Amino acid sequence: MTTAKESSAATAGLRGVVAAQSSIGDVNGEQGILIYQGYDIHDLAGNSTFEETIFLLWNGRLPQRRELEDLKKEFQANYDVPDEVLEMMRTFPKDANPMDVLRTSISALGFYDKEGHATDRETAVRTASKLTAQIGTLVAAWERIRSGKDIVAPDKNLSIAENFLYMMRGERAEADEARMFDVALILHADHELNASTFTTRVIAGTLADVYGAVTGGIAALAGPLHGGANTNVMKMLKEIGSEDKIDSWLDKALEEKRKIMGIGHAVYKTEDPRATWLRKFSRALGEKKGDLNWFNMSQKIEKSMLEKKGMYPNVDFYSASAYYLMDIPLDQFTPIFAVSRISGWTGHILEQYGNNKLIRPRAEYIGERDLKYTPIEER
Ligand code: COA
Repeated sequence: MTTAKESSAATAGLRGVVAAQSSIGDVNGEQGILIYQGYDIHDLAGNSTFEETIFLLWNGRLPQRRELEDLKKEFQANYDVPDEVLEMMRTFPKDANPMDVLRTSISALGFYDKEGHATDRETAVRTASKLTAQIGTLVAAWERIRSGKDIVAPDKNLSIAENFLYMMRGERAEADEARMFDVALILHADHELNASTFTTRVIAGTLADVYGAVTGGIAALAGPLHGGANTNVMKMLKEIGSEDKIDSWLDKALEEKRKIMGIGHAVYKTEDPRATWLRKFSRALGEKKGDLNWFNMSQKIEKSMLEKKGMYPNVDFYSASAYYLMDIPLDQFTPIFAVSRISGWTGHILEQYGNNKLIRPRAEYIGERDLKYTPIEER
């Protein structure tokens, strides 16, 4: 017979527990396959755009040309955020963590959306569009505010990827860089029932509003065991410094049983298909900027980890050096994850609203029973 302790250990972290039915995305960890609504991630990364992928995630099919144009126009029309939210952000401490800033400012957007609490599909899709359009504006605005620069107003002729890089850096990105960033957004858009997506579904399952559910998703993504790893990869590369120091650094780190950031995955037991694309981008950007140090270092660590531990890089490993070479500050890597993942979160929120059942599991009680209350002076 399984004891109470053994059975709760078996479900620690709900590993392997199927907690929802979804047609949005699926991960095959043995074969390294990721699909969105039936389409392989490689097919989408090679051919699609972030906007088209969002349509796919929300609607379960690829759009007609007209539908895609309408969605792009809707995003562009919604790029601006209320001045009141920007004013509020200006009062935040300049050293605040960008994920904390994003969590609070996304939540505040809800005050200014009169229909923000509706959960019928038509209105909830409109809310999802507004949030998806505005999240990048908030992330970029915080970068400008904290570094004492003027906020760059969104350019309504640009795609989400182009506009984000423009608002963040103050100048238009070159086409190849904007395309790499667009693909990075596609790659991060959904990943089945990861911790932040599960959080958004639990919140939506109470019929709370989309703003509340996304705010919860951001809070979950911020944790170092979830979205925070990409920043830590770049910190690690900087700590090591150069290729010749890798062998001794890695031997020492493994001896001390340290986790090598960006390596290993809870589901993938082979190459994470998203890493395949990000590796290419890290190299291409390194060549373009004349700084291949980070790519070369990453490749060497990847090779050693495969030889020594049989482990592969995950999505965070090469996105770190790619974003770094796009001049994005380290602590903005996780907010950028949210700029993309909001599409998957809102897809799951819409799916949850569409066939809702309050998510309310049970806990296995492993405490005492039948204790009798003792007055405080007798304890
Ligand atoms: N570097 C070195 N060793 C690692 C490792 C890593 N990145 N990831 C796992 N291991 C080792 C563990 O130390 C453990 O070894 P042991 O059996 O000798 O104790 C074994 O592999 C299993 O580790 P565990 O953490 O149980 O595996 P998991 O599959 O549950 O973990 C991660 C998956 C992602 C949490 C883990 O690989 C990790 O922490 N990676 C680094 C952080 C990261 O990149 N996170 C982003 C994920 S997308």
